[in-house]
Amino acid sequence: MADQGIESVLQETRVFIPPSAKDVGGPEWLISSLDQYNEMYKESIDNPEAFWAKVAEDFHWFKKWDTVLEWNAPDAKWFNGAKTNVCYNCVDRQVESGHGDQPAIIWEGEPVGDNGSPVDQRTLSYKELQTEVSKLANALKSKGITKGDIVTIYMGMVPELAIAMLACARIGAPHSVIFGGFSAQAIADRVGDAKSKMILTCDGSWRRGKVVELKKNVDDAIESMGNDSPVESVLVLNRTNCGAPMHTIDSDWATETGAASADCPCEELESEDMLFLLYTSGSTGKPKGIVHTTAGYMLFTATTAKYTFNLVPDTNQTFWCTADCGWITGHSYIVYGLLPNRVPTLMFEGGPDYPTPARFWQIVDRYKVTQFYTAPTAIRAFMKWGDEHPASCDLSSIQVLGTVGEPINPEAWMWYRNKIGRGVCPIVDTYWQTETGGHVLTPLPGATPTKPGSCTLPMFGIDAAVCDEAGNVAKENVGGLMTIRKPWPAMLRGVYGDRQRYIDTYWSTVAKDGEPYYAAGDNTRRDELGNFWIMGRTDDVINVSGHRLGTMEVESALVSHESVVEAAVVGMPHEIKGTGIAAFVTPAPGFEGDDDLIKTLRAHVATEIGAIAKPDMIRFTNALPKTRSGKIMRRLLRSIAAGDINITQDMSTLEDLSVVAKLSEKDEG
Ligand code: PRX
Repeated sequence: MADQGIESVLQETRVFIPPSAKDVGGPEWLISSLDQYNEMYKESIDNPEAFWAKVAEDFHWFKKWDTVLEWNAPDAKWFNGAKTNVCYNCVDRQVESGHGDQPAIIWEGEPVGDNGSPVDQRTLSYKELQTEVSKLANALKSKGITKGDIVTIYMGMVPELAIAMLACARIGAPHSVIFGGFSAQAIADRVGDAKSKMILTCDGSWRRGKVVELKKNVDDAIESMGNDSPVESVLVLNRTNCGAPMHTIDSDWATETGAASADCPCEELESEDMLFLLYTSGSTGKPKGIVHTTAGYMLFTATTAKYTFNLVPDTNQTFWCTADCGWITGHSYIVYGLLPNRVPTLMFEGGPDYPTPARFWQIVDRYKVTQFYTAPTAIRAFMKWGDEHPASCDLSSIQVLGTVGEPINPEAWMWYRNKIGRGVCPIVDTYWQTETGGHVLTPLPGATPTKPGSCTLPMFGIDAAVCDEAGNVAKENVGGLMTIRKPWPAMLRGVYGDRQRYIDTYWSTVAKDGEPYYAAGDNTRRDELGNFWIMGRTDDVINVSGHRLGTMEVESALVSHESVVEAAVVGMPHEIKGTGIAAFVTPAPGFEGDDDLIKTLRAHVATEIGAIAKPDMIRFTNALPKTRSGKIMRRLLRSIAAGDINITQDMSTLEDLSVVAKLSEKDEG
C-alpha cells in the first residue's frame, strides 16, 4: 500500500529514478546512488582544495603545483606554480600509455553518395592525431606564431578544426574560434578585439548540400579592417574545392603541414596561461571575449564529462555532441573534456536533416553512439519531422542522453526519453555557460532522480544557490538569482581587455558580507527536492535555438541600415527555436515599411552578424513606445510580440504604438 502511495506521487510529479547500468547496456555507473553523489558533493564543497588536488593526480604535469587555489575575489588562481599542457593530456598521454592506436576522433562529412552513404569518413587514432597536431603546430610556428599570440579559427566541422585547437594549445597560442555561421563583420569585430595575427580557415564548408564560402568571409573581414587589420597570415584548408582565391598573406594548409616536421614537443605552460578566448553575447555592446586558462579548465571539463556522461574507456563507448566547435559546448564536450577520458569523440560536419531528417539517427546507428548530447531546439525539430525517422534506425546503443543550451520543455523531454532513449535512458539536462567552462547543474545518470524541465543538482565543486542581491538564499520554490558562491576550476578568468566589464557583469550583483558571488545572469528556483529550475535570463540576452544573442547587438545591426531610424528587439516564444527574435522598427523618411523592407533588413542582419540573428518577425511603427523618461517599453513590446496584446493582424502595416504605450505606461514604471 505504502509503495503504491510513493508510486503515485512519483507518477504525479514525474520523477524518473535512474535505471541500472544493465538496463541501458552500459558499464557500471561511476556514481550509482544519490547518497554517493551527496557524499562526494559535500567533500568537494567542504574541502575543494583536497578534492581537486585528488582529481589532478590523474593528469600529467611537467611540474606539480605550489598551491591548489589562491582566491582573491574575483580573481582565482588554480594550481599555481604548476606546469602542464592541455594538448599533452588530450593526446600525447594516451599515446605514451600505450593507447596510441585507439580511436580519438571519428568524423563524418556531410555529402552522401547515390546510395545515401556518406562519402567522407575518417577515424583518427591518438597517434595520428599527435602527428597531425604536431605538424600543424610547427606550421604555425613557421608563420611566426609563438606563445601568447592569439590565433583565430574560422572553419567548418572538419577534424582539422579540432586539430587546429589542439595545435594552438600545444604551443601555448590561445585560440579564438569563431562559429562558421558568423558574418565577415562579426569576424572583423572579434579579430580586431583580439588583435589576432593569424586566421585558420577553410575554403568553404558543406551545409545542407551547399557550400558556405568561409574564406570569402575572411577576405571581406580583412578588407573591411583596412590598415587596422592585425592579420599577417591566413592558412586555408581546401575542403570543398570551391576555388577560393588566394592572396599574398594566404597559404595552403596541405602544403604547409606537408612540409612541417611531425616532431613538436608540448610547451610547458603555467596553469594560468590563457588556453582560449571565446566571444559571447552580453546585454550591452559588442560580444565579449571570455578568457579561459589552462589547468583548471582542463580538470573541470574532463571531470564533468566523465561523471555527467559516465565515460569509461575500453568499454566501446562513442560519444557524440552535436554542437559546433564554434560554441563553448564544442570546446568543452567535443574536444577538451573528451580526449583526456580516452573515449572517442564523434564530429559531424552537416545539419540534422540533410539529406534526410533521419541523418542524425543514421549516424547514431552507424557508429553505435553511446552518449548523445544535443540542444532542445533540435529535439523540438525532430519531434516535428516525425517519429518514423528515429524509428527507422537502431538506437539501442545509446546509454545516456544529454541536453544543453536552453530550458527544455517537458513534452520535448518526454519525447527524447521515449523515442530516442527507448523509455529507459537517463536524460542529463546540463545547465552551464560560456563563462562557467563546464557543467554547473546536471543530473548524474546513475544517481540523480530527474524531472522533465529541471537541471536538478550542482556538479561537484559548484556551490550553487538561489540568492537575492544581499546573498540571502531564497526559500523553497521562490525565484531568485542563479549564483555560485565559491570559485571553481573552469570559471572564466576575465573579459579580454576589459577588466571593468568582468567585475561589473559577474561580480557586482550579489555579495554577502562584502564577499562577491558569481551572478550567472539567470533567474532560477529550487524545488522541495533541491532541484534547480532555470527560469530565464535577468538581462537582455536571448537564447535563440540555444544560441546566445544580445538584443542590443541585433538592434545595432538594424539601425546601421539606412532605412532604419530606430529599432527595438525582444524575444518572443517560438515553437522550435524556444525564443524567436521580434524587431520593432521605425523606418526612415522615404522608406516604406513593407515586405520588401522586411526582406532587406533580415538580409542586412545576416550580413552584420550571421543568419542566426535574423529577426523572425519585423513590425514597423512610426514611433517606439517609450516611458516619459525615454526608456523603450520592452515589456510592452514583449507582450505584443507574444501576441498577448493584439494590435493588428497585419504584421507589416505601419502602427502607431503611442496609444498602447500611454495605456501601459504605469505598468512599465
Ligand atoms: O540562460 C542559460 C542558458 O544558456 C545560457 C548560456 O549560454 P552560452 O554561454 O551560449 O552557453 C550555452 C551552452 C552551455 C545560460 O545563461 N542555458 C544553458 N543551458 C541551459 C540553459 N538554460 C536552461 N537549461 C539549460 N540546461
